[in-house]
Amino acid sequence: MNVNMRVLVTDTLTLEPQVAAHAHELFAVLGDPALYAYENEPPPSLEWLRARFLRLESRTSPAGDEQWLNWVIRLPTSELIGYVQATLHSSGPATIAYVLSSKFWGHGLAREAVQAMLSELTAHYRVDCFCAVLKRENFRSLRLLERLGFSPASPAQHASREVEAGELLMWRDLRNLA
Ligand SMILES: CC(C)(COP(=O)(O)OP(=O)(O)OC[C@H]1O[C@@H](n2cnc3c(N)ncnc32)[C@H](O)[C@@H]1OP(=O)(O)O)[C@@H](O)C(=O)NCCC(=O)NCCS
Repeated sequence: MNVNMRVLVTDTLTLEPQVAAHAHELFAVLGDPALYAYENEPPPSLEWLRARFLRLESRTSPAGDEQWLNWVIRLPTSELIGYVQATLHSSGPATIAYVLSSKFWGHGLAREAVQAMLSELTAHYRVDCFCAVLKRENFRSLRLLERLGFSPASPAQHASREVEAGELLMWRDLRNLA
């Protein structure tokens, strides 16, 4: 397992391995109600978020069978604007997720950040297959995944990854690109 996460640098953004010290900067970003139009809810308190980020610094699930990798997204102005995350399972595709402050939607920044994470996962964690689960009506997220080369999962792919009614499973398999 590679748990020594690296800082990722793109044309516009710096992705820093998320640590507890980021909680105070991200707390305000994660209070944005627009982020929860389809699912989830804001962190209940700064202390809760700090404790959660501290636990996530282990980079592993409580059972130890998954790698949990999170990077916060920083602008050149040094403002934190969101995060990307990946769950690496012992087998099957890595599951990805992402959140960007709504102030910065519509500029391709989420695409840039998620692409940087996908490239890092392929280059340094040997991940060659990715999936994402989203609410069917979350069209922004769907468009982002399509731009990143994801497609709706096939019935066979659905068999290996359960989703709830109202959710969509998107899949990107680099092994098919040869
Ligand atoms: C999902 C989410 C990250 C998408 O953010 P986003 O800013 O729309 O995504 P992108 O970075 O790909 O930007 C795309 C938009 O920027 C535009 N854009 C401008 N310049 C661009 C460029 N150089 N490259 C790509 N897109 C660019 C695109 O045309 C697109 O515009 P559109 O929304 O009118 O179609 C954001 O909506 C979010 O955080 N949502 C809340 C959390 C959430 O739902 N997470 C996903 C759970 S599954």
